[in-house]
Amino acid sequence: MTRTAEVRARTGGLDVRKITYTEADIDKRVRAMGKEITRAYQDGEELLVLGLLKGSFIFLADLVRHIERPVQVDFLVASSYGSGTVSSGDVKLVYDPDAVMEGRHLLLVEDIVDSGNTMNRLIPLLEQRGPKSLEIVALLHKHIAPNLVKEPRWVGFDAPQEFLIGYGLDHSEKYRNLPFIASL
Ligand code: IMP
Ligand code: MG
Repeated sequence: MTRTAEVRARTGGLDVRKITYTEADIDKRVRAMGKEITRAYQDGEELLVLGLLKGSFIFLADLVRHIERPVQVDFLVASSYGSGTVSSGDVKLVYDPDAVMEGRHLLLVEDIVDSGNTMNRLIPLLEQRGPKSLEIVALLHKHIAPNLVKEPRWVGFDAPQEFLIGYGLDHSEKYRNLPFIASL
């Protein structure tokens, strides 16, 4: 199969015109972030890595394999988008993990920071639980959020202000399986 045919097979016919970040770009960056995160946590305590579902699932899976520290993995489910491409501003926590957060190093894993609504709602909620530290790692950051309550400490890529799909990112639940990130 040619690359075009393979991409069409994965998308159900959508032609992806422009690849924003290739598999190689992503791999290189995720490895580097894993190293930076490894270096940042020196006290020997376990990290509680919290992935925001669903968008972060592939990024998290790759990232944790490059963190050379003891980790516990859990997930949060928040929903801010329906089937459209515009943030509604309405963030709901649909799944809240059982993991104890008090006194622990929390690392929140986000696929993309767009309007910042999700972060702005989640961060205060997580801070209330008394973690020892709370940091955010985002694969992509559009840098359009006006008042982020907390900036991600680690960002994979400063993303263009376009709607992106692939590597976990969806549009109406499709295209998460693309191994690269593309503009819709
Ligand atoms: P925010 O609350 O607007 O910052 O965005 C929260 C969520 O919206 C992200 O975690 C993504 O799941 C989704 N999202 C934002 N921008 C994009 C995009 O360009 N492509 C796919 N999903 C996006
Ligand atoms: Mg999404």
